[in-house]
Amino acid sequence: MVSGFSKLNKTQKIEWLLKNHFNNDKDIQKTLEKYLHISVNTQKLHDDFTENPISNFYLPFSVAPNFLINQKQYTVPMSIEESSVVAAASKAAKFWSERQGFEAHVEKTTKVGQVHFSCNVSYERLLFFFKNIREKLIDCCKDLTQNMEKRGGGILSIELVNKTDELENYYQLFCKFNTADAMGANFINSCLERLGENLKKFAKEQLLQTQDNLDIIMCILSNYVPECLVNTKVSCKISELTLDKNITPEKYAQKFVQALEIARIDPYRAVTHNKGIMNGIDAVVVATGNDFRAVESGVHAYASRSGQYRSLSKAWIEKDTFTFELNVPLALGTVGGLTSLHPLVKIGLQMLGNPTAKELMQIIASTGLAQNFAAVNSLITSGIQKGHMKMHLKNILNQLQATPQERISTEKHFENTTVTHAQVIAHIKEIREVKN
Ligand code: MEV
Repeated sequence: MVSGFSKLNKTQKIEWLLKNHFNNDKDIQKTLEKYLHISVNTQKLHDDFTENPISNFYLPFSVAPNFLINQKQYTVPMSIEESSVVAAASKAAKFWSERQGFEAHVEKTTKVGQVHFSCNVSYERLLFFFKNIREKLIDCCKDLTQNMEKRGGGILSIELVNKTDELENYYQLFCKFNTADAMGANFINSCLERLGENLKKFAKEQLLQTQDNLDIIMCILSNYVPECLVNTKVSCKISELTLDKNITPEKYAQKFVQALEIARIDPYRAVTHNKGIMNGIDAVVVATGNDFRAVESGVHAYASRSGQYRSLSKAWIEKDTFTFELNVPLALGTVGGLTSLHPLVKIGLQMLGNPTAKELMQIIASTGLAQNFAAVNSLITSGIQKGHMKMHLKNILNQLQATPQERISTEKHFENTTVTHAQVIAHIKEIREVKN
């Protein structure tokens, strides 16, 4: 047990860590320090993002060019540690940019928040009271909403929801918001807390009698945003599906659709299928300074909306045309939060032409669809290990600190062979032994 850890400075925190977890190993300290930024100001900026930082944990900042979305060309920033993801997205983007690209569409960007409360008065009395105070509740948030309203956002609606069938005395204020180009978490939560405070105040003044009570349990946004949905699709003549010379375009389209059907009906496959989509989505969400945990939880809840976890994408054949489509809920922002703090996020957004939140939803969903296309394409043709292990080879060679000559020789050796970790080690060992 340690008290006051957060009050220690960085050096003291590292000392504590070395003493308690690393037997005072100075190499650990050197590694932590090696990853600190050379510029004091940049380091300070990163230190201020969270609590107790002792070093930096880098992710690559990559780009995937050749995304044609709604007839506009994009180079998409991606931050991800998994090999093959960026290469696969780029390849799929190029393939589809030669076939009219992605057609993406956002209907609504409605976000949700709830005031959860308990109250022992009847639903009828509570509803009557709520209808009387609804507008007043919205007015109490005016100082919070006025700037958002200028940008086209604000509180869209507040409803009273009766949940007493499921939990004794439990009700909600179910609120919908438009947060314009901001992700809006702080805005929504501030409004909800204000709504909660005033609900309690008005209840004391106008509703509650001696035996009655109303308790605010919690006020918080929901990361489930089924009305903040983006649709993106690609489509081409079946005859254009010439991705693998060992299989006819017709057979390819048929296998692709079957793979998608399997992901629709089988949850084990659906989870991995959707993971492939999230490889693309998360990488851009991170690179554009958005909250990937919020996106992940909302997306998977949406995938379960029928009561069974299913694939988020669909593919079908109509006459001689193949179509592949994705629907995902994405609550994103292009202003505020990390978007104005992290220099690389700023560059990422600038690279995309400083998109609106709606445009970013279209870009991110299209990257997810491209990623999904690349994964299913590999799975129904060569299998994923071939390409994957080629990229993995690079990482293994880095781990083994291979020289440029050793790299060339190993890459050549594994050109037509499946890469395994053990075989790479054995090969490098062999080269090194021959040399000595
Ligand atoms: C690996 O990160 C993602 C895949 O497993 C996705 C899929 O199976 O569709 C290749």
